[in-house]
Formats: sequence, structure tokens, C-alpha cells
Amino acid sequence: MSNPVSICVIGSGYVGLVATACFAEMGHQVICVDNDQGRVEILQKGGVPIYEQHLPELIMKHRDRRLVFTNRLDEAVERSEAVFIAVGTPLGENGAADLSYIEAVVSEITGAINGYKVIVEKSTVPVYTNDWIRRVLNRHGVKPQSFDVVANPEFLREGTAIGDFLHPDRIVVGVDSERAERLLRRIYEPLTEGSYYAQTDAVAGACSAAQPARLLVTSAQSAEIIKHASNAFLAVKISFINAVANLAEAVDADIEDIAMGIGLDPRIGSRFLRAGLGYGGSSFAKDVAAFQWVAQQRGVNFRLLEETRKINEAQKEIFYNKVLAALWTLRGKRLAALGLSYKRDTDDIRESPAIEIIKKLLTAGAIITAYDPAAMEKADLALPPGERLHFASDLYAASRDADAVLILSDWKEFAQIDLARLNQVVRFPIVIDGRNLYKPEDMRNCGFTYISVGRPATYRAQEDRPGKFPA
Ligand SMILES: NC(=O)c1ccc[n+]([C@@H]2O[C@H](COP(=O)([O-])OP(=O)(O)OC[C@H]3O[C@@H](n4cnc5c(N)ncnc54)[C@H](O)[C@@H]3O)[C@@H](O)[C@H]2O)c1
Repeated sequence: MSNPVSICVIGSGYVGLVATACFAEMGHQVICVDNDQGRVEILQKGGVPIYEQHLPELIMKHRDRRLVFTNRLDEAVERSEAVFIAVGTPLGENGAADLSYIEAVVSEITGAINGYKVIVEKSTVPVYTNDWIRRVLNRHGVKPQSFDVVANPEFLREGTAIGDFLHPDRIVVGVDSERAERLLRRIYEPLTEGSYYAQTDAVAGACSAAQPARLLVTSAQSAEIIKHASNAFLAVKISFINAVANLAEAVDADIEDIAMGIGLDPRIGSRFLRAGLGYGGSSFAKDVAAFQWVAQQRGVNFRLLEETRKINEAQKEIFYNKVLAALWTLRGKRLAALGLSYKRDTDDIRESPAIEIIKKLLTAGAIITAYDPAAMEKADLALPPGERLHFASDLYAASRDADAVLILSDWKEFAQIDLARLNQVVRFPIVIDGRNLYKPEDMRNCGFTYISVGRPATYRAQEDRPGKFPA
């Protein structure tokens, strides 16, 4: 690359690590800092602490050449033109975002500003965080002319994060200074001018040299709101289809047909119209709450977001009740739990509906054998220890002697189960699918009672039909 930028990324989590690897892949010199010493050591030794497609290869390709890992924030900032903050912004009190990690980082940076720096918010933050960052720097005596603050929200999705970062549908840069805008444009130039896509070893994706990535420049406030509003809109879409699914179920309609019929309207679009257990993950729940909190602070009543949250919470309860209705009582029942991560292709279990449902089933006395292709280690730490929780090495082992099989994440391998084999290993052929991975008629033809979301259940035998009385 003709004009590489020296970049420091603070935080080596799902966003920081992906940004680090991708900036190096784009030709920049990157120092990734984390204050978790254990994490830094794993990275320095060539390990990758999270599960994300293409990430190990990219880190291996650039480690010790274009990218290094350290816990020395001061040195990293001193050596960098752009400082990307990618630490967590978890749910705080009353729904507000907890910005203490951001503030801690900004306070720490102050002593290391040895020349003009652009401080970039990569984390998802509420509107006016850019202003607070500026104030904190000023309070610590950093001269206003020695830095600019830019909002550059991240839209990557776990599971496809590398592709999303290198082939973004948009790069949003919220900036109030031309100097900072120039630097951000330089950083993203390989994607916006398309030179990256012309490389023979470029990660493949939607963008190309002929159709490079699009960069949108806005004010910092607008950029901050774009991120919150995007996540809130997606959450609304999910809760909307789940509410329609509940209605569909009550009138014997099929939510998959309905979603197709709605989604064919290009104004609506078919993506994110998948009924299921509701949204999870580290972002949606906290961002919806934080966005609502911001609106409330400004006197705007954004009740739609409150309803979105309530529908999402109810979705897990509805699923639990389906398990109860299918099995009558839960104490001592053996259940196979397929999936622990909040969605496929990630080991992230933060706000995972699967984890919440399993906790509730354990409390009710069920015996759970869980399997997930990537998230078992993390789930083992998050779920209450006890002799009624087991982990299996594959989905068939998890399903052995099960009274029912629960599908809780949408991993591809759960959509490709050898149903004849599954039928042989279970105690009763009952599948309760929170992700609608199968067609009800196919499951009936394979001898299963199949209960899913927003579609009529199909029963293998009369005795599998729900009883006349509540369970
Ligand atoms: N995960 C996603 O899919 C996603 C997508 C878009 C945006 N975001 C946003 O990006 C931000 C980061 O999310 P994440 O999922 O990567 O979080 P994460 O929890 O996976 O990673 C945060 C990292 O920051 C480190 N850290 C915390 N304080 C630090 C400090 N003072 N100095 C150095 N390192 C420090 C932590 O040790 C951790 O490794 C959040 O605001 C999130 O909302 C996340």
C-alpha cells in the first residue's frame, strides 16, 4: 500500500480483533492493545481467543509484520496516527449504556498524546459520546489542536465479521474536521477506491474493484445515531415477525409462507424476517435499551422500542411453554439442547436465548445434554454447574435417550441432521425447534412430532398431542 496509516486499536474483542486483522489486511500498520493480559498472551503466541471465520488466517498472515499485540496502551498510542476505541459498552443502569470502559481508555490515552491524533469511536456509543471524549481530553490538559474525535460505528455481524468489514455495505464516518476526515478516508481508501479488491489474495465478498465500498460522511452525532437506529430497526423487524408468528400459530397459518409473502415486497425485504427465539447477542438488547434511554433523556417517547424488547423477552417464555406442553412435567426429563451460541457461526453466548432457556429448564428439574459446534467452553462457564447439565461431542450423542430434542441455535449442521439416525437414538421422537430449520411435513414423514415457531405442529401419534388441560 502506498500510504499506510499507523493505527492503534484498543480492545481485542469481536470488533477490535476483526478491525485489527482487517486494517492490517488493507495494508496498514496496526498495534492492538488489550488490558486483559491473558488475552494478549494468547494473541502474542499465535492463538485466537474468539471463533470467527477467516480471522486466524488473517492474523497469521500479518502477525509480527503489520500487526502486533500489546498491553502497553501508552506506547501504542504514541506510535499511532489513529486510535480506534473498540472496548465494550455494556448495558448500564436504567437501560443507559455503561461508558466507563470508554472513559477509562480516554483518560489513559491523555498522557500519550505526543502529536496530532485522531481518536475514533468504533464501539457503539450513545449520541454525544464524541463530545464527552473531547471534554475528558481537554480536562486532562490535552490541547484541542492535538486531536480530533471521529465516530466510525461498526456494522459487522459475528460469524461473517471479516467479510462484513472488508466488504461493507457502508462505512460511516462522523466527523467535524477536514483533517480527521482526510485521515479516515486514507484508512479506508483500499476499500473505497477498490485497490484491495484487485489483489489476487483478497478475501472474497460483495464489493469489487468496479463496485468498491461506499463511505458516507456525516456529523459525529448523526453517525452515533445511525448505529443505534440501525440496530433498533433490525430488532423491531425481528420482534415484528415474532409477533406475527404468534398470531399465525393461533390461527393455523404458516409464518414461513407469511414471511415470504411479506418479504417479496422490496420495500420490506426478506432479510431479518425469520421467526424464532428472538434476538440475542451482545448488541441488540443493550443498544435498543440505550437508544430508548437517549430518546427519553431528550424528551422523546420511543415506546416502540419498549414493545420490541417485551416481545423479544416473551419469545423465550413462549418456547419454554411449548416444551412444557409437549412433556407435561420437566423434573427428571432428559432434553437434548442443540445450540448454545446466540446464532450460528459464533461462539458468542452473550444474551443467547439458548442459555436463558436452558437455565430455566434446569431450574425446573430437567436433565440437559447440550451440544454446540463452538460455544460449549463459554457456555460451561455461564451455566450453573451441576450433575443435571452435560455436554456432548456431537448432536447424536446429545440426543441419546432424550425425551425431546430442542433446537436452540441455527447452525448449519442442525439443519442437516440425519433424521433416521436421530430417530434411532432418542427415547421419544419429539423435536421442538426454536429456529424453524425443518419443514413440518418432512419431520412428520420421518416419524417425528415436530413443534416449531409460527407454524402448525405435526404429531407422530395421538398421545403426542397436547393434553386438554394446561401442563
Ligand atoms: N460484537 C459485535 O458483533 C459488535 C458489532 C458492532 C459493534 N459492536 C460494539 O463494539 C464494541 C465492542 O464490542 P465487542 O463485542 O468487541 O466487545 P468484547 O467484550 O468482545 O471486547 C472488548 C475488549 O476490550 C477490552 N478492554 C476493556 N477495557 C480496556 C482497556 N481499558 N484497555 C484495553 N482493552 C480494554 C476487553 O478486555 C475486551 O477484550 C461494543 O460497543 C459493541 O456494542 C459489537
